[in-house]
Amino acid sequence: MTRREVECSAPVNIALIKYWGKRDENLILPLNSSLSITLDQEELCTTNYVYTDTAISQDSLTINGLPHSLDTPRYLSCLQTLRQLSGRHERVWIESTNNFPTAAGLASSAAGFACLVYSLAQLFQLDCELSAIARRGSGSACRSMYGGFVEWKRGVLSNGEDSIAYQVFSEDYWPELQVLILVVSDQKKSVSSSHGMQRSVKTSPLINTRAESIVPERIQLIKTAISERNFESLAKLTMMDSNQFHAICMDTLPPLFYLNEVSHKIINMVHRYNEQCSEVRLGYTFDAGPNACLLVQKQHVKQVLAIIHYLFPTSNEDKFVIGKSNSVSPTDL
Ligand code: PMV
Repeated sequence: MTRREVECSAPVNIALIKYWGKRDENLILPLNSSLSITLDQEELCTTNYVYTDTAISQDSLTINGLPHSLDTPRYLSCLQTLRQLSGRHERVWIESTNNFPTAAGLASSAAGFACLVYSLAQLFQLDCELSAIARRGSGSACRSMYGGFVEWKRGVLSNGEDSIAYQVFSEDYWPELQVLILVVSDQKKSVSSSHGMQRSVKTSPLINTRAESIVPERIQLIKTAISERNFESLAKLTMMDSNQFHAICMDTLPPLFYLNEVSHKIINMVHRYNEQCSEVRLGYTFDAGPNACLLVQKQHVKQVLAIIHYLFPTSNEDKFVIGKSNSVSPTDL
């Protein structure tokens, strides 16, 4: 067999309406649909170099240069499905690199599994709907298969065939919209999203109300906000949804504390700034970690960055450039 190799990258996506809770743990079927924005490929992404040749006797994976087991249900399910669909059974070598902190609430697993599935599909010359395969690696990974604004539909089928992601608006639809990432901590989170979700599904009385009646309406409202490029509505819905997700974390027993003091300061800063401007110029959202993702329009980025630098001085002069704009990393707070 001749050697074949592929290199490709997959971007991180940031959920504006969050996925939290599974109705099927094995197939990774969510309780509710979710909607995200995919960041620019060059800025915050996973890059994979994958190859196969006769000298390889077993599958192997390294992440940021360190060996990593592929012998977990999530990796196995992605690999098996790709092999079944393509009819290719050769062993693969996968070198995966993230250009951002891994497992710190910056959606590293989303970019990682999206990249794994896409690069192996290229290697195996498989041309089909891939988001449902990426979903089996990490739920939110299915949204990283597309750029722009992406919805992951929860689906209704028990085999998960209709639980897929699709692009709602393209990456060029709202060029003024920027995402700033404030890296508050680059430490691995103490409770993984999967474990946190399991705990919430078991113990939170609020999670079903959110999934059944709040999220479906919010998804419609946020799609309208995006279609009208209505920043105020987009930012408010995003902030409310982030707050509700963290309220569910608090409603979980034992509670899940993903935000820290700095995250709370950032939330206060955003609301104070909007009040002083007498309009909504800034929005925030936080995943399962303390790092903030801020939504802002291009014309206000400079002013917002100046305020962030003033309130959160950092000795780290390497500005993390993310999304469609500059973002800062106040890691020294
Ligand atoms: O895909 P997972 O298992 O890493 O879960 C992601 C969960 C959140 O980031 C908190 C929300 C989301 O929709 O991305």
